[in-house]
Amino acid sequence: MSAVDRKQNALVVDDLHVHYFSPRGSIIAANGVSFSLRKGEILGLVGESGCGKTTVAMAILRMIQPPGRIVHGQIRIDGQDIVGLSERAMRKVRWQELALVPQGAMNSLNPVTRIREQMGDAITTHEAVSREQLRERILKLMTDVGLPERVISMYPHELSGGMKQRVCIAMSIALNPKVIIADEPTSALDVVVQRVVAQTLLDVKERLGVSMVLIGHDMGLQAQLVDRIAVMYAGNLVEVAPVIAAFENPLHPYTQILIESIPSIKERKPLKVTEGITHDLRNPPPGCIFQFRCMWVEQKCRESAPPMMEMADNHFVACWQYPERYESTKTQSDLTLENS
Ligand SMILES: Nc1ncnc2c1ncn2[C@@H]1O[C@H](COP(=O)(O)OP(=O)(O)OP(=O)(O)O)[C@@H](O)[C@H]1O
Ligand SMILES: [Mg+2]
Repeated sequence: MSAVDRKQNALVVDDLHVHYFSPRGSIIAANGVSFSLRKGEILGLVGESGCGKTTVAMAILRMIQPPGRIVHGQIRIDGQDIVGLSERAMRKVRWQELALVPQGAMNSLNPVTRIREQMGDAITTHEAVSREQLRERILKLMTDVGLPERVISMYPHELSGGMKQRVCIAMSIALNPKVIIADEPTSALDVVVQRVVAQTLLDVKERLGVSMVLIGHDMGLQAQLVDRIAVMYAGNLVEVAPVIAAFENPLHPYTQILIESIPSIKERKPLKVTEGITHDLRNPPPGCIFQFRCMWVEQKCRESAPPMMEMADNHFVACWQYPERYESTKTQSDLTLENS
């Protein structure tokens, strides 16, 4: 990886641990998550429900609520660690550097306020602008996300799901952030509208040159949108790879299952069901996190956790199936440190 590449990280998450504390033990929702987001790229974050995707997103924005807490790790934006920042300093970083399209965003629009006021509030909370400038800014944002001007005078209930979601995207880019975290921005929308919203995200990325973490379940959509993909299982990243490599040559058994589960009309086959269930996140097993569901499990997997190993250029996997490369390679954590 060249020195130029090192400078091009918009965001680095390094060994992030997030726990939700409960009387019956801590839920380990992020367990040493490390990845970097390069400037101008879209990184997909995928994994089954409850694996910790939203937790990682909220941690990046420092918005984990009690009983949750970041217990360890660094989150660097343009080289600056934000984990230790005061809440006041963090408020500036949020929105101006980072923006979130939260999971279920369209349902969080205020039902009794017109779009114009909601967007205006998002801007005037952070910037002093005249009424006229504000109107111009809001209209420009509407154009950026492909919505007609009249939408600004409407209430959320007058908009379709796709339009509401595009309003949320417009709000997320209102202050020109460098990084957008979009948490399942297309779920709960029909397939056609999903594509429209996905295209809106792509347009926004291209036009504003932002970098994006795109969280989702839909592997088909991820294949079309993202540059690299990070696969998460039970609080751990298990594979990080350029999207073509991940789909053509998935290495981790869990990634293979995710890809095999993409339906195809050409080749109808029985739906693949993964045996076993995810362990209790309060009590992760020693060894590999995927051992209870893995078809390749062996003794070593029960004893020690495989580190992230670089198997090909930028293709990382945590699996003891590929041990021979371990000694000769660097871990993902080493690389994020180097790249920051
Ligand atoms: N406030 C909370 N208190 C306790 N546990 C929580 C809390 N929020 C999340 N968790 C737990 O942390 C784990 C990760 O949750 P998270 O919402 O990050 O998953 P996710 O991957 O975003 O799931 P989904 O795809 O359903 O949105 C889950 O086991 C969840 O039950
Ligand atoms: Mg979630």
